[in-house]
Amino acid sequence: MSLLKEPDFGTPAKEGAATISLEVDGLPVSVPEGTSVMRAAALAGVDIPKLCATDRLDAFGSCRLCLVEIDGRRGTPASCTTPAADGMVVRTQTPKVARLRENVMELYISDHPLDCLTCGANGDCELQDMAGAVGLRQVRYGYEGENHFDAIKDQSNPYFDFDPSKCIVCSRCVRACDEIQGTFALTIEGRGFASKVSPGAGESFMDSECVSCGACVQACPTATLQERSVIELGMPSRSVITTCAYCGVGCSFKAELRGDELVRMVPHKDGGANEGHSCVKGRFAFGYATHPDRVLRPMVREKITDPWREVEWEEAIGTVARRMLEIRRLHGAGAIGAITSSRCTNEEVYVVQKMVRAAFGSNNVDTCARVCHSPTGYGLKQTFGESAGTQDFRSVAQADVIMVIGANPTDGHPVFASRMKQRIRQGARLIVIDPRRIDLVRSPHITADHHLQLNPGTNVAVVNAIAHVVVTEGLVDESFIAARCEGFDEWAEFISREGNSPEAVQQLTGVPAAEVRAAARLYAQAPNGAIYYGLGVTEHSQGSTMVMGMANLAMACGNIGRDGVGVNPLRGQNNVQGSCDMGSFPHELSGYRHVSDDAVRQVFENLWGTTLLPEPGLRIPNMFDAALEGTFRGLFVHGEDIAQSDPNVGHVTAALSAMELVVVQDLFINETAKFAHVFLPGASFLEKDGTFTNAERRINRVRAVMKPKSGRHEWDIVCQVATAMGYPMHYDHPSQIMDEIATVTPTFAGVSFERLEQAGSIQWPCDADAPDGTPIMHVESFTRGKGRFVPTPFVPTEERSTRRFPLILTTGRILSQYNVGAQTRRTANIAWHQEDLLEIHPHDAEDRGITDGDEVTLASRVGQTKLRAKISDRMPTGVVYTTFHYPVTGANVVTTENSDWATNCPEYKVTAVQVALARPAVRDRKAHAQDGVLAVELVD
Ligand code: SF4
Ligand code: SF4
Ligand code: SF4
Ligand code: FES
Repeated sequence: MSLLKEPDFGTPAKEGAATISLEVDGLPVSVPEGTSVMRAAALAGVDIPKLCATDRLDAFGSCRLCLVEIDGRRGTPASCTTPAADGMVVRTQTPKVARLRENVMELYISDHPLDCLTCGANGDCELQDMAGAVGLRQVRYGYEGENHFDAIKDQSNPYFDFDPSKCIVCSRCVRACDEIQGTFALTIEGRGFASKVSPGAGESFMDSECVSCGACVQACPTATLQERSVIELGMPSRSVITTCAYCGVGCSFKAELRGDELVRMVPHKDGGANEGHSCVKGRFAFGYATHPDRVLRPMVREKITDPWREVEWEEAIGTVARRMLEIRRLHGAGAIGAITSSRCTNEEVYVVQKMVRAAFGSNNVDTCARVCHSPTGYGLKQTFGESAGTQDFRSVAQADVIMVIGANPTDGHPVFASRMKQRIRQGARLIVIDPRRIDLVRSPHITADHHLQLNPGTNVAVVNAIAHVVVTEGLVDESFIAARCEGFDEWAEFISREGNSPEAVQQLTGVPAAEVRAAARLYAQAPNGAIYYGLGVTEHSQGSTMVMGMANLAMACGNIGRDGVGVNPLRGQNNVQGSCDMGSFPHELSGYRHVSDDAVRQVFENLWGTTLLPEPGLRIPNMFDAALEGTFRGLFVHGEDIAQSDPNVGHVTAALSAMELVVVQDLFINETAKFAHVFLPGASFLEKDGTFTNAERRINRVRAVMKPKSGRHEWDIVCQVATAMGYPMHYDHPSQIMDEIATVTPTFAGVSFERLEQAGSIQWPCDADAPDGTPIMHVESFTRGKGRFVPTPFVPTEERSTRRFPLILTTGRILSQYNVGAQTRRTANIAWHQEDLLEIHPHDAEDRGITDGDEVTLASRVGQTKLRAKISDRMPTGVVYTTFHYPVTGANVVTTENSDWATNCPEYKVTAVQVALARPAVRDRKAHAQDGVLAVELVD
């Protein structure tokens, strides 16, 4: 449980030692230089009335409520904008300031509707609080004069209302949108009495640039900007701190409840990853957890053509165990396995892989990270010795040059993108390497210095060309390389070859050589250069090579081991890092230790009381292939929708159809469940107790806000399946699972729920040497000792555009939807995105007679689908783009089985396709999302 209202010190904290000593109302206090008088007073325990100030925003000094008197100074300065000085004596409650404050409040209240008792913010309104704090007893000006009481409400946003009649024009919302979110959607229009907050040029919130992050709602001191759920359900009365279950940023939230009902999610100021900020998904899109589509009773069926039959838990668990055992008896342990989910907690993932290894008796466990960031694990392990990002998010505040490769942070990792944009607005330079002109390339107050708009599939050629410039122009950090790295000479000889020069590859990559040279110089000569990357790096046939290429580049420039540098994967799902850490790859036990290592296996065998196989098990694609060959027959799918998210869906569904037993544990009947024989209801993140690990290795607590709606915890169900198969597994609480993880995993040795309660969150490695965790890795030396340069020759993908398939398709995600959309499609987020669209360049569209909104067929050599076209010059000619949030589109029907050479991560980002106008032409269509699935009416 946490405080509903977190303390607000009025202005942001200043870094540094407390060297300034002053006295506030007789109380001594010491603060760092630059601290405001208001904050110093708050630290001394004196709350100065305020309205326009909040400690999340720079002081503004507009409301004049925070006036104080300072001995030896004339007048009554605003405490929020006055820096504290050594020896200062401040008085906050003199008759003079009391009178002035009362006057100010009178003016505010005389233009404010007095409907406090029925107002949605009653009890959570700073105007109400301040009226009390200044002792306002009367309003002399009356309410008859000109006022804003009739200002029209804007209810266009599905999640919050804007009622300008209650606005005090404090500008907190505008500043939150500018300073924190970085969208600059709001302005104060007009002057004096006529001034008012406006989204865009007189537009509604929905029509404006607003991305619905909620920062303005949180900053608003009145009921002007307020969550619709609070208006409808009433003010919450208690809160529980937990972690967002969407992306790998891992934002902390206060889940605020009224009774047992979740009213709102408020980003937690002390959250290490988000520091009080949020995006539309974590902040508002939690309604899926209580959506009527949730399946709450276990179901079984003999054949996938049979109707589902609801059963008791014991029968469902017994069926799984009996049929898995039967397959094992007839076909061996190699015929059964499981897929773990990066949406589940560390504790859940750990027990699933334990079930497979100890109860199933195979190493056939793989994770959905196979299809996203497995090359990250491989590439960073080979070069640095640890399969994880190097920095914490905070570190970006020290970066001088930021290189974003194959990632779209404003859509995919919005809260981190806001941090990054803050740093860029402060002056950091930006290099974007992406075929698509993502928002970061040009957005309010941000322009990338270089956008290397490469052809899809040529990442390695580009990173090699950058490194070629660094080496051949003598921009390497020689002392760093000499002291910290190995293999440099061999790599330098390779990278210096003419074939790797920007000039040699420019025709192939499509990036002008001069642009590559300029970007390389910028990165190499920066005091601190940081690389952030996403699936546009990993989901290629050379994904692992590219990860190593970036690691080489960072080492060559000495950009590892301190704030503001590093090689940082922006992880897709909430617990991708954790699911990999927990040993859910077929070749690795927890902590990335190979199953062939006898000493490591011994540790687990001793604790688990069983024998483990030293050979790696099957990867996900191998499971599918083996299923079609008849050697893999039983699969437990924990919280993944492989029939929608994995490539070449036709191949996946054929494999699923061929299996004797498919068990799906999930919230909804998803595409995979259509091929399942047993359905085990899962729990939403609001019902879970455990931990997630975000992209910066930060282990965050997930706390149950409500009991599991199905009546059972997922980790417990898995234990019961293992037990029913003859391998007893039992824990009383997820904390015991974490204790076991800590026992067997050196990088988690110091982690426990107790430590997490004390620290809030911990970044692994956390052990005796680093009891508080490790925000920055490889500081003195690399995890593997010396950082290893690995030559990374460019090998073109086999997927080429041809006469038949002349365009290249690349896929990605958008802000309002998430992955296969199972969650976000069941929320009001569909207001922003109701279908997957195919972005196509105007020239490519014109060549095909396609106009904006036309329905088109998208075909590759493996499949074909239909969707509507969006004409956009964000893509270069020859490249088209779509998302895969809707099963009705099934974009992965067309993606191929090509994959990364080292990890089998699918090559989602390069598929040769043809696009053609679908016939008959659709003149009008009404699209509406119902029950999570898009229904399309064609009207011709
Ligand atoms: S919700 Fe976010 S983006 Fe929209 S106006 Fe408010 S702060 Fe700006
Ligand atoms: S909407 Fe709220 S935060 Fe914005 S100016 Fe009005 S009162 Fe202040
Ligand atoms: S940035 Fe990611 S973790 Fe944070 S609120 Fe948004 S979806 Fe959740
Ligand atoms: S709080 Fe200082 S002027 Fe508004």
